[in-house]
Amino acid sequence: MATRLLTNIGELITNDPHLGDASPVGRLRDAALVVDDQRVVWVGSASEAPDADERYDARGAAVVPGFVDSHTHLVFAGERSDEFEARMAGQRYDGGGIARTVAATRAASDESLREESAVRLGALRAGGVTTVEVKSGYALDVAGEARLVRLASEITREVTFLGAHVVPLDYARDRDAYVELVAGEMMRATDSARWTDVFCDDGAFDVDEARVVLEAGRARGHELRLHANQIRDIGAVALGVELDCASVDHCTYLSDADVERLAGSDTVATLLPGAEFSTRSPYPSGRRLLDAGVVVALATDCNPGTSYVTSMSFVIALAVREMGLSVDEALWAATRGGARALRRDDIGHLGVGARADLAVLNAPRAAHLAYRPGSSLVREVWRAADGADALH
Ligand code: NIG
Ligand code: FE
Repeated sequence: MATRLLTNIGELITNDPHLGDASPVGRLRDAALVVDDQRVVWVGSASEAPDADERYDARGAAVVPGFVDSHTHLVFAGERSDEFEARMAGQRYDGGGIARTVAATRAASDESLREESAVRLGALRAGGVTTVEVKSGYALDVAGEARLVRLASEITREVTFLGAHVVPLDYARDRDAYVELVAGEMMRATDSARWTDVFCDDGAFDVDEARVVLEAGRARGHELRLHANQIRDIGAVALGVELDCASVDHCTYLSDADVERLAGSDTVATLLPGAEFSTRSPYPSGRRLLDAGVVVALATDCNPGTSYVTSMSFVIALAVREMGLSVDEALWAATRGGARALRRDDIGHLGVGARADLAVLNAPRAAHLAYRPGSSLVREVWRAADGADALH
């Protein structure tokens, strides 16, 4: 297997606390690393780097682990910029617009959904994302959700079934029947997904309904994650922790009891500052979570309603500016935190044995990602060979 040496790295963020400055981001200066087709095989000081088949000179640039975007709704048709404008003029987000994306997505061909998703995927990847999670949830009928899961599987293996996104208009008078459909026939048709998710919030599904769907998902062999506490606290985080969800996502409104629950659990709190930005909602405090000992991840939530965001650097900049995270904490949350939210150890860090997924920046320090918002700072992205041209 061919090896590649990446040397003259000004600052290497390994996220391996045994390496470098012993901080949680394992920072090494004047560093080098060697990868083969799949994995990192050596990390250390540039002056001690071994020979390799190929050599790439980073010319003093910073190198970070590839970003792990653990929450997206990448496969959809249409756009809802009019809703964004209305919110900027004072209207509140209530999830009602999801029905418009459902109508547009149902009407779109496989080919056009593939094309639109590929453009968004390209933007994510150009910004340094090497792993992406993709949800269904914009079809809300059996064949349509199965189709979205299939299309998402062409992009990533981190596929999430979100049939319980909202109750579709045709079931508005019989929501119990819809919950039964999602937990039964729809779940069976989307078996190949890795995850089940529910939007458990005001205007979507209550805690009892969410429990039915999540338990059905677990019974089919899915692992669990949850949209929780975005609009209001209806007890979603408590449910997520109780059911050992890998992650509860949004966490915009959290009680002290929720913070305590999360701190004593294996459930990650995934913050989605693009959603607060685009819905003009208050940013939850990442500081409060970290100080309590909660594991925090950052993700784009790329979707046409609340966060049409395809830049992890922008998410990092918002988390630092608005959520009280230090630059290092935000970098960790966007990489190793995302990996934890997907219950993965092979990504999100650059210790020996990790997947060879990294971004070379157009900057001498990784802090530039937050310091220079709005610029494209990713010079190059390396990804472990995976067969398909997708983001594992
Ligand atoms: O994560 N909150 C639920 N789902 C998406 C928004 C979906 C939409 O408005 O289209 C979210 O914010
Ligand atoms: Fe979401």
